[in-house]
Formats: sequence, structure tokens, C-alpha cells
Amino acid sequence: MLGLLLTYGALCGAANALECSSSVIQSALSSSASVNFAYPVEANETFQVPRGDTGYPTNPVGLPALCAVSVQVQSVGNTTFGFGLFLPSDWNGRFLAVGNGGFAGGINWIDMAPGSRYGFATMSTDTGHNSSSFDGTWAYNQPEKVENWGHLAMHGSVVAAKNITASFYQKEISYNYYSGCSTGGRQGLKEAEYYPEDFDGILAGAPAWWTSHLQPWTTKVALYNLPLSADYHIPSTLFPTIAAEVQKQCDPQDGLKDNIVSDPQGCNFRPEELLCASNVTNTTTSGCLTSPQLDTLNKFYTDSIGENQTFAFTHLYLGSEPQWLLLSEDKPIPLGPDYIKYFLGLGPDWNFYDYNEDIQRLADELDPGNATVGFDLSAYHAKGGKILSYHGMADGLIPAGSSPYYYNHVICTLQPRGISVDEFYRFFFVPGMQHCAGTAANVNAPWYFAGANQAIDLGDTVYGVPGFRDEKHDALLAMVAWVENGTAPEHIIGTKYVNDTTQAEVLRQRPLCMYPKQAKYTGNGDVDEASSWKCELLY
Ligand SMILES: *[C@@H]1O[C@H](CO)[C@@H](O)[C@H](O)[C@H]1NC(C)=O
Ligand SMILES: *[C@@H]1O[C@H](CO)[C@@H](O)[C@H](O)[C@H]1NC(C)=O
Ligand SMILES: *[C@@H]1O[C@H](CO)[C@@H](O)[C@H](O)[C@H]1NC(C)=O
Ligand SMILES: *[C@@H]1O[C@H](CO)[C@@H](O)[C@H](O)[C@H]1NC(C)=O
Ligand SMILES: *[C@@H]1O[C@H](CO)[C@@H](O)[C@H](O)[C@H]1NC(C)=O
Ligand SMILES: *[C@@H]1O[C@H](CO)[C@@H](O)[C@H](O)[C@H]1NC(C)=O
Ligand SMILES: *[C@@H]1O[C@H](CO)[C@@H](O)[C@H](O)[C@H]1NC(C)=O
Ligand SMILES: *[C@@H]1O[C@H](CO)[C@@H](O)[C@H](O)[C@H]1NC(C)=O
Ligand SMILES: *[C@@H]1O[C@H](CO)[C@@H](O)[C@H](O)[C@H]1NC(C)=O
Ligand SMILES: *[C@@H]1O[C@H](CO)[C@@H](O)[C@H](O)[C@H]1NC(C)=O
Repeated sequence: MLGLLLTYGALCGAANALECSSSVIQSALSSSASVNFAYPVEANETFQVPRGDTGYPTNPVGLPALCAVSVQVQSVGNTTFGFGLFLPSDWNGRFLAVGNGGFAGGINWIDMAPGSRYGFATMSTDTGHNSSSFDGTWAYNQPEKVENWGHLAMHGSVVAAKNITASFYQKEISYNYYSGCSTGGRQGLKEAEYYPEDFDGILAGAPAWWTSHLQPWTTKVALYNLPLSADYHIPSTLFPTIAAEVQKQCDPQDGLKDNIVSDPQGCNFRPEELLCASNVTNTTTSGCLTSPQLDTLNKFYTDSIGENQTFAFTHLYLGSEPQWLLLSEDKPIPLGPDYIKYFLGLGPDWNFYDYNEDIQRLADELDPGNATVGFDLSAYHAKGGKILSYHGMADGLIPAGSSPYYYNHVICTLQPRGISVDEFYRFFFVPGMQHCAGTAANVNAPWYFAGANQAIDLGDTVYGVPGFRDEKHDALLAMVAWVENGTAPEHIIGTKYVNDTTQAEVLRQRPLCMYPKQAKYTGNGDVDEASSWKCELLY
């Protein structure tokens, strides 16, 4: 049934498509938007990303035949934002927007490619500026640019790109979808909150939804481990030692020893096992931690509490150690300090060692760009929209617990009003997955399910889940089945290909369960087959 739906456009949708030219595309737009270019890309050709896209310079290769479009739109004040749109000849009748990452400004051409391979008309916004994902300098004294990044550019791009799509194919769009991870996850949830009409289905991975707390925390957590000269500093050369001890203690505690820490919150971890013996002179070479270092380690695994005992942010999960980029250097990664310097306006001379709780208060007051997502998604529920969200438990950049924190607060906001959250918003943990994609080499977790940004990690022309092109294994198709057929996903099967290449065989498959259920081995059958598992509540 769904297969038929997905090929429908191939049979009928594109028959009357207009010519792929700037003048034709321009005719679909109001005077506030102007076409930069529109030209056809032949099947199997490469799209040449225009020079100057700092955020996403990679050229998508081996594309299906499509019309490549770029548009500039006038926004608040004296600002503009741009977006790119791929209109495949073999259109499936649907629209898909993809998200961005970090503070990046640029059209995410490379992540548009997989969408167009399914047949979606696929759009990405540049969020209104031009920068790499770790660079926030553009935001300094530019509240309007920050507002574009926060929500205006995505919404405005969606509206204009839908206009173009319907006009180009001479046909109404059947359904509208979104897929993004990290900042992209935030953009998706923000759309649900502010612009419920934009989408029917939103796939939101590892959402950076609490911008005003996430970035102060990024700074604060790095300071737990600084300066390098402190006796409490844990050098990154010891992270593998810590990771191995966590795996040793926590992997068996989750019920099955398989290298994946599947229940980090349920693990009774004793860091004291890492304590150095009295005769150790060099802790790095001995692979052990001193008492002051153990104190630091405990802080990484503990929620951040702000002024007056207020909750500030969730902690890093046990099992996230292989991706501790936030804690490895002699300074925080730029996302934290750049947010404070340029979004909050403390300026380029602000020193991260001066971090204090006043900064959190300021961030709460300003919430630059209204980027933080609120909990009231009732309007999106009312219009029948669906959200499918997920987060890798081994995420070392955005703590995994921030997603159930959001989900549970949405429940607390909506359930008293008689709204059943399960009806429209479901959250799935991905044990062993790092930030948005991937798994540590010795963990080999089944992390792939065609989530946002994932396909390009498996290969240049990959889309969906090769060998398993159905809504049980592919989160985007699960979203489509939920929206169009009412089939709400109870779990999604994650896949791990040998060496993360689709040329090789499948190493493992396992259900990713709808929170708060967890996957439990039935005790029968191959542990690497999904059918040997079921999703259960642990209480
Ligand atoms: C559509 O929904 C029906 C039940 O309503 C179910 O039996 C069927 O498997 C679903 N098909 C797809 C493709 O999701
Ligand atoms: C989109 O189309 C609507 C209706 O045709 C029009 O009012 C609106 O100005 C258009 N928006 C853009 C950005 O072109
Ligand atoms: C697509 O292009 C690649 C590289 O140019 C080539 O190897 C391949 O044969 C082409 N495939 C098709 C179907 O034309
Ligand atoms: C984006 O920034 C890069 C690097 O600063 C610059 O070379 C490029 O011209 C800029 N592109 C646009 C479109 O402004
Ligand atoms: C608007 O932006 C243009 C181009 O960057 C600049 O030349 C102009 O001075 C700006 N106008 C205002 C009112 O800021
Ligand atoms: C420290 O003592 C233990 C036994 O107490 C011994 O096994 C170990 O080799 C010693 N380590 C060093 C660095 O001397
Ligand atoms: C400990 O050993 C490491 C690796 O050999 C070395 O780089 C470091 O300088 C040593 N530290 C001390 C305090 O001797
Ligand atoms: C903490 O309490 C003090 C005194 O009531 C108040 O001034 C301050 O704003 C509070 N801070 C936060 C973050 O709530
Ligand atoms: C953004 O924040 C400002 C200041 O808090 C507020 O006045 C405005 O209504 C917000 N915008 C939206 C779209 O909610
Ligand atoms: C996977 O990678 C390993 C190490 O590079 C290699 O030995 C092995 O042949 C690869 N297997 C496949 C199926 O690609």
C-alpha cells in the first residue's frame, strides 16, 4: 500500500512539470523573494555547490534527474535568508525540508540529496547567514540575523519552497515532512511550536532544543576539567580507560553483555574502580584516576544545577566517553563561548574562565532569536501533526537525557489538558549511537535507520535503509506511514552494516523502542536479529 503511494508521483505527479528556469520559478514567488538560479541536473550528475557556502561545501553526486533551485528572501530589518530546493523529475507528491547543524549558515545541499532520491521535493534553508557550524561570530549585535537562525528562515523558506513546488509540478503537495538532527532537531520542534501548519510529520533527532541552557552548559562542563594544569584535570588520553571501565560495569548490568551500554540510567557505576594505587607516579601511563580526578568525572555524570537549586541541564550519559569532544581541549568547544560572546552580547574579549551563573540568568532573559523551544505543542497536535524524535544514548555533544526531559515536560504541559501525547509525539532512544549518527568502533551498535544526516555516512548515493526499504527500518518511511496511514510506530529497527558500508552484510539489527520502553532480549534466537528482542517497560 505504502509502496504504491510512494510511486504514485512517478506515474502521475511530474507529467505536467514546468520548465526548470529562473523565470518560471520566479513566477511562483512574491516580490520579496528572488531566484538566484534554477537549472536542470541530469540523472547521475553532480550538483556543484556554489562557491561561498561555508556551512555545507560538499557536492552531492549521482543525483536523480532534478531541477536545482536557489532563492533569496527578504526578511526582518535589512536581512535576507536563502534556501535551496531540489525538484526531482520522479516526484512522489510530497515535500521534505531538512535541517542544519550547530551555528552553521549555508544551504545543506548534501543532506537534500537523499530526500530527492526518495522522490521528495527537498528544501534546505541557509538560516540567513554564512558560517561554519562552530562559528557564532556572525551573531554579534545582529538580533535580526539571530531571529532568522532561530526560526524565521526555516518558516519563510518552507512557505516559499512549497509555493514553488506546487507551481512547478502544477499540482498540490500531498503531505509535508521535516527531517533534521541537532540544531536540525531544534528547528523541527520549533516549527511544531510556532508554525504548526508547516508540516504533517517531523523527524527530530538529538534536538538542541534548550539553546539558552545547552550552550552555557557546554562552557560550564568544559570548565569542570580545566585548566589543564589542575590536579583534578583528566587528560583525554585517559578517556578510553574510563570508557572501558564503564563498558565493563554497565554493559552486563543492562541484561546482555554485547558491548552496548543500553541502560546507562539504570547502571550502578562505581568510578572508584578507576582509583590509582598508592605506588602510581604517572596516572596517564598507569590508566587510573586520582581522587581529585574522580571528583571531576562525577561532575560529568551529574545534572547541572544552577542558582537557587534550579535545574540547569542534564548530564552526559555513561557510555558517551568515546565522543567527549567537549572535555578534551584546553578550552570549551566554540559553541559555548561563541553563544555567550556573540548571541548574549558579552563581546569578543569575554574570557570563558569568567563563566558564572549570571550568564545563565542573562540567557534565560534574552533567549536570543527565540531559539529555545517551549513545551506547548498543542496547536500542532490539534492540526493532526506527528513528531518522531530520537537521541543516541552515547551522544557526547548534546546529553541524551535532554530529549526525555523535553518529552516529559510536553507530557506535563499537555496531559492535564486532556491531550494524549502518544497520539502525536513519540521518542526513541538509540543505545550506543553517538551524536546523530555512528557508534564507537568496539561498540558496534545498530545506529542506522535513515535518520537525519545519516545516509551520507554510509556512502555518497545512499538513501533509506538499503535491503530494508520499509517503514519498520526507515524512520522517515515510519513517519510517512504514521501520517498517511495512521500506523503509529511502536519501535524502529536499527541496522548496523559491517564497517558501515552497504556493500557489506548486516552485522546486527535491533528494535529501538518507544520511550520509556526498552529493548529486552527474549532469551531465544540470535541476539543480532531484531526478532529476538521485544520492547518492554522495566517497571
Ligand atoms: C496501514 O494501516 C493498516 C491498518 O490500519 C495496516 O494493516 C497496514 O499494514 C498499514 N500499511 C502500511 C504500509 O503502513
Ligand atoms: C506564496 O504563495 C502565496 C499564495 O499564492 C502568496 O501569498 C505568498 O506571497 C507566497 N510567498 C512567497 C514567499 O512567495
Ligand atoms: C553514474 O556515474 C558514475 C561516475 O561517473 C558511473 O561510474 C556510473 O556508471 C554512472 N551510473 C549510471 C547509471 O549511469
Ligand atoms: C561566505 O564566507 C566565506 C568565508 O568567509 C566567503 O569566502 C564567501 O564569499 C561567503 N559567501 C557568501 C555568499 O557571502
Ligand atoms: C542594508 O544592507 C545593505 C547591503 O549589506 C547595505 O548597503 C545598507 O546600508 C543596509 N541598510 C541599512 C538601513 O542598514
Ligand atoms: C604497584 O603495586 C602493585 C601491587 O601492590 C603492583 O602490582 C604494581 O606493579 C605496582 N605498580 C607500580 C607502578 O609500581
Ligand atoms: C606521564 O606519561 C606520559 C606518557 O608517557 C607523559 O607524556 C607525561 O609527561 C608523564 N607525566 C608525568 C607527570 O611524568
Ligand atoms: C535566585 O534568588 C534570588 C533571590 O530571590 C533572585 O534574585 C534570583 O533571580 C534567583 N535566581 C534564579 C536563577 O532564579
Ligand atoms: C520572540 O521573543 C520576543 C521577546 O521575548 C517576543 O516579544 C516575541 O513575541 C517572540 N516571537 C515569537 C514569534 O514568539
Ligand atoms: C571491514 O574492515 C576491516 C578492517 O579494515 C577489514 O579487515 C574487513 O575486510 C572489512 N570488511 C568488509 C566486509 O568490508
